[in-house]
Amino acid sequence: MCGIVGFIGDQPAAPVVLRAISRLEYRGYDSAGMVSVSNGRIYFQKDVGSIADVQRKHKLDRLPGEIALAHVRWATHGRVNRVNAHPHFDCRKQIAVVHNGIIENYQELRAELEGRHKFVSEADTEVLCHLMEDYIEESGSLEEALLRAMDRLKGSYAIAMVSSREPEKIVATAKDCPLIVGLNGNSHFVASDTFSFLDQTNEVVFLEEGEVASLTKGGVSFLNRHGEEIAKEGQKVDSKWEEATKEGYDSFMLKEITEEPQAILRALMQDRGLITELAREISRARQVVITGCGSSRHAALLGSYLLSKLGGKLCHVLTASEFHYFTDSMAKDTLVIAVSQSGETADVIDGVKRAKARGVRVFSIVNVVGSLLARVSDKVIYINCGPEICVAATKSFIGQVVIFYLLAFALMGKLEEGIRKLELVPRQIQENFEQIDGKLKELAQRTKNENNFFYIARGLNLAIAAEGALKLKEISYIHAECMPAGELKHGTLALIEEGTPIVAICARDDTFYETLNSVEEIKARGGYVIGICAENNDSYDEWIRIPEVQEIFYPLVAIMPLHLLAHHVAVARGKDPDRPRHLAKSVTVK
Ligand code: G6P
Repeated sequence: MCGIVGFIGDQPAAPVVLRAISRLEYRGYDSAGMVSVSNGRIYFQKDVGSIADVQRKHKLDRLPGEIALAHVRWATHGRVNRVNAHPHFDCRKQIAVVHNGIIENYQELRAELEGRHKFVSEADTEVLCHLMEDYIEESGSLEEALLRAMDRLKGSYAIAMVSSREPEKIVATAKDCPLIVGLNGNSHFVASDTFSFLDQTNEVVFLEEGEVASLTKGGVSFLNRHGEEIAKEGQKVDSKWEEATKEGYDSFMLKEITEEPQAILRALMQDRGLITELAREISRARQVVITGCGSSRHAALLGSYLLSKLGGKLCHVLTASEFHYFTDSMAKDTLVIAVSQSGETADVIDGVKRAKARGVRVFSIVNVVGSLLARVSDKVIYINCGPEICVAATKSFIGQVVIFYLLAFALMGKLEEGIRKLELVPRQIQENFEQIDGKLKELAQRTKNENNFFYIARGLNLAIAAEGALKLKEISYIHAECMPAGELKHGTLALIEEGTPIVAICARDDTFYETLNSVEEIKARGGYVIGICAENNDSYDEWIRIPEVQEIFYPLVAIMPLHLLAHHVAVARGKDPDRPRHLAKSVTVK
């Protein structure tokens, strides 16, 4: 949800910044811009479109100077147009600001400033530019002016700015949004995600709430919220640079789906002592609350079924955006498990902070190393699935699910046995993929003009059905809804008409016959049943085969066909699966 990169060094900054910001496209692609400073002058370009579109049109990499900032936008305040794209400026175009987050009190501030300042955009960010303009007259420096401006801001932000008044520096700060400084000799970065510059350096400093960083060629200095100089040591992030390319695939989504078998193996690479320790804490906790958003919430849901079925522990799943309505009833001996690929989803972070304020312990299941969630949690388990670029989560979902399997096996005291069994699953998924992919493409062609899809399952597979429905709606824009098969007759059955597609996960487990009953009820009303099952059945109009596995592993083998179906339908409808409209990968606003 908006990405920022800044660079200062002994070389032309624009090409470096362009490379780095291009890796953050997952954070926004409705507009983009860059600003540089050279010989005391500010140069900029911005426009509607992805960073690649704006580069093609305006040759961003030709902006002069050894200091530059760039921004990719996911609109919150103000329509998608050139004026609202970042950077934003003060009246005299002496201060250029890029911002990720939301300034919640921007309307009040704008009303206060509007008489004296000329506003050109609808963006909340612009109030900060004009506040800076006022304060810089009275303060000695950009940093001081920024600290004063921050006293006036409500909301969340990661901000970086340059100014022709102090043309030798980048000043940056953050509150509730990630901002990381990268150190590399005389070159320094500031960015929303280390991934943007990890090919250059893995020595980083995480900006904590309200801290201000000043980046000059001579070095980086830091101030705390009160303007006092503080020492912050660089730390090495323990993640390897992996350039995320499509490797010949048409989309990142397709590439990442095909990496799902590998993601299982990578998630299995865990410190067994840590998993056992966490399982012990789960077992001891009076209440266990699992939270997340989107696909991570579906992983949480499956986790709750696994911890209950295998581990005998009843856990509550709270959608992260609803978390705080329950915080008051959380006892100290509650354990919160927060699930997030990015580790920076604002609602998840907010919930975790509220829980911690009540003295509750927090574990997190995260992909991005060193992310905010990882840093605020008491313990973190990384899923190790590598960079996930497509906005819609796929391989990270399966990685998260694997961690819940491990925790559930550890609760049973059967971690080693569980790992051995889990290691066999990826090969079965891979072989099945080769058999069914062609059929899924045909099915996508046949169903691409449908307006509604329903997904049903029971038990462990319910979360998988929910994940399948989410994936279809977010990238193909077909309405898709999931429900427990048993709930159909309490309302949704009224919507089934001749030919309405229903995806039914009919796992060969203790839910099989009951799910099949629901399938029959649908058939009796003319529904078109797509059975996801290890064997064919007369009741299915279409059969999508999944391999026969031990009962508890059906969720792992059922997910890839559903991710593929969503992908193929989106492509059949001419949609770009990597860039779903109105969505972003890292949702850093509440
Ligand atoms: C966004 C993404 C989803 C993702 C969700 C949670 O909505 O589009 O794919 O599942 O955020 O993200 P997280 O990083 O917390 O897992």
